[in-house]
Amino acid sequence: MAMRTDYCGRLSSDDIGRTVTVCGWVSKRREHGEHLAFVDLRDRTGIVQCVVDHAHDIRSEYVLAVTGTVRERPPETVNDELATGAIEIGEATVEILSQADPTPFQLSGRVEVDETIRIRHRYLDLRTDRMQRNLRSRALVNSAIRRAMDAQEFVEIETPMLIASTPEGARDFVVPSRLNPGSFYALPQSPQLFKQLCMVGGIDRYYQIARCMRDEDLRADRQFEFSQLDMEMSFVDGPDVRSVVSQAVGEATEAITGQKPKDIPEISWREAMNRYGSDKPDTRFGLELVDVTDVFSETDFNAFKAPCIKGIKVESGSDIGRNQLDQLTDKAKTWGAKGLVWIKVGASGEVTSPVAKFMSETEIGDLLEKLNAVDGDICYLIADDWKRAVHVLGLLRLELGKPPVNEGGLHFLWVIDFPLFEDIDDAGNPVPAHHPFTMPHPDDLELLETADKDPSVLLDVRSQAYDLVLNGWELGSGSVRIHRRDIQQQIFDLLGINEDESQKKFGFLMDAFRYGAPPHAGFAFGIDRLVALLVGEENIREVIAFPKSQSGTDPLTEAPTPIDAKQLDELGLRLLPPVN
Ligand code: AMO
Ligand code: AMP
Repeated sequence: MAMRTDYCGRLSSDDIGRTVTVCGWVSKRREHGEHLAFVDLRDRTGIVQCVVDHAHDIRSEYVLAVTGTVRERPPETVNDELATGAIEIGEATVEILSQADPTPFQLSGRVEVDETIRIRHRYLDLRTDRMQRNLRSRALVNSAIRRAMDAQEFVEIETPMLIASTPEGARDFVVPSRLNPGSFYALPQSPQLFKQLCMVGGIDRYYQIARCMRDEDLRADRQFEFSQLDMEMSFVDGPDVRSVVSQAVGEATEAITGQKPKDIPEISWREAMNRYGSDKPDTRFGLELVDVTDVFSETDFNAFKAPCIKGIKVESGSDIGRNQLDQLTDKAKTWGAKGLVWIKVGASGEVTSPVAKFMSETEIGDLLEKLNAVDGDICYLIADDWKRAVHVLGLLRLELGKPPVNEGGLHFLWVIDFPLFEDIDDAGNPVPAHHPFTMPHPDDLELLETADKDPSVLLDVRSQAYDLVLNGWELGSGSVRIHRRDIQQQIFDLLGINEDESQKKFGFLMDAFRYGAPPHAGFAFGIDRLVALLVGEENIREVIAFPKSQSGTDPLTEAPTPIDAKQLDELGLRLLPPVN
């Protein structure tokens, strides 16, 4: 038989007169003299006040079964902040089911608690309103995503965790093989290659809520282990994939906010860089970058004799002090700028700036016109090559305008037409912007051919890759894939992966492509990131039940731990002395 008749938080005036039993944890106890005490009992649905004869033997976080009769509270004791604040359980009898030591931190209210202490006692942290709400929201997101993918006829397939390496740009976590001493499995950085094999296998529409493992530095939006909605489909183009993903993300959003987001706008990578100085623009606010290179085409100001000059204008921003301006300039320099010009606009177009004397009246006039700057505004300008100018000004834009995580609504954005390569490394090899399985733009295949003569043309090759962005976070990435062996080998060659190496690492994929590979495309978005933004958390740890701490360890289980000599022997491993 169930121990309880009701949940604490679900009792209401409708229950007045009923004798009920509720079970839960003591959230608070208050004694009023010898023979009157109040116990606030908490379960996953909320809190109810129980009136008992005495509470001498009851402490916070004891686990109780409380039986009594629901009654109206005297009017002066009604608590509007509590869902059950109009009622209480009267003349209650208490059974102590479990005692509790004093907890290492307070579980109610908004007290800041040290991260390590929270994670070490995560089972206590999970009792807090915040974690209860976050984990429930996460479950709602997962089930909404499954519903959306199922409805669109995607098949959920589990891919293996013990695999050969998948390149997603991070280090692999590896697992030694007992039966093959000296050999290792890699844990998947993503199911990328398996989902492509599923397409060769005729699955047509695959999805998975996939656990991925990447050994990279942890940040607010990065853990070693995370979850993706991973999907792939055959005989489609980028827009088809984006439509499916938009549907899933839309339903997930609706499950938390009650509102379906509007159609997600699309913007090209170049436009994103030009207007926001970022490939993951936070479009909750304006402060867009404006190109003012033309204004200074014949300038005498040496600092502005540069290929590109970009500016932003902060409306009514001219009351900023000299100290702050110096700090911004220092920041801009740490981001790579040579300097930062600021110009305050006064009445009738007069300006104040340490460098105004180097600019002509026409330049200043044209500049203010381009930036639409009027009395009380301030303009910031960066001169550099295009890449650095937009990058630094993009960071300055965030510094000056970024709203807190839980303000400004949810602004989804598709960024499309990414370049195929984001850089050329020191060894002269191009660095893929997405992963090496991304199909170049069909019109740019010719550029690839000419690359051996002039590698710099590679940076102009567009790809068929796209990202989904939410409030300045990269939520997910995907692309149309290469399904032809010749093009795949050409890309491997360009990346400096020769045929031997590509055969060794990705031979199985190249072999599969021999037997009829359908054109295919796919996507993956981070569920931890989506949930965090939907519930207004700044760190994905807050939406993960058992996360790692900033240093990548688990203060709860103390992982990672050494293993004993016998286990090492079995695995054929010898440890080197630690390097300091
Ligand atoms: P990508 O590497 O861009 O693409 O990853 C997709 C999304 O996964 C999330 N993510 C992370 N979340 C938390 N912690 C991490 N360490 C972490 N790393 C990534 C991000 C990211 O946008 N196979 C491709 C997808 C494809 O092409 O289909 C891939 O994994 O939200
Ligand atoms: P300098 O000529 O280096 O003394 O710089 C004069 C002013 O212009 C200083 O306020 C610098 O911060 C600024 N400045 C210098 N180089 C740049 C640049 N490339 N872009 C924007 N501002 C610059």
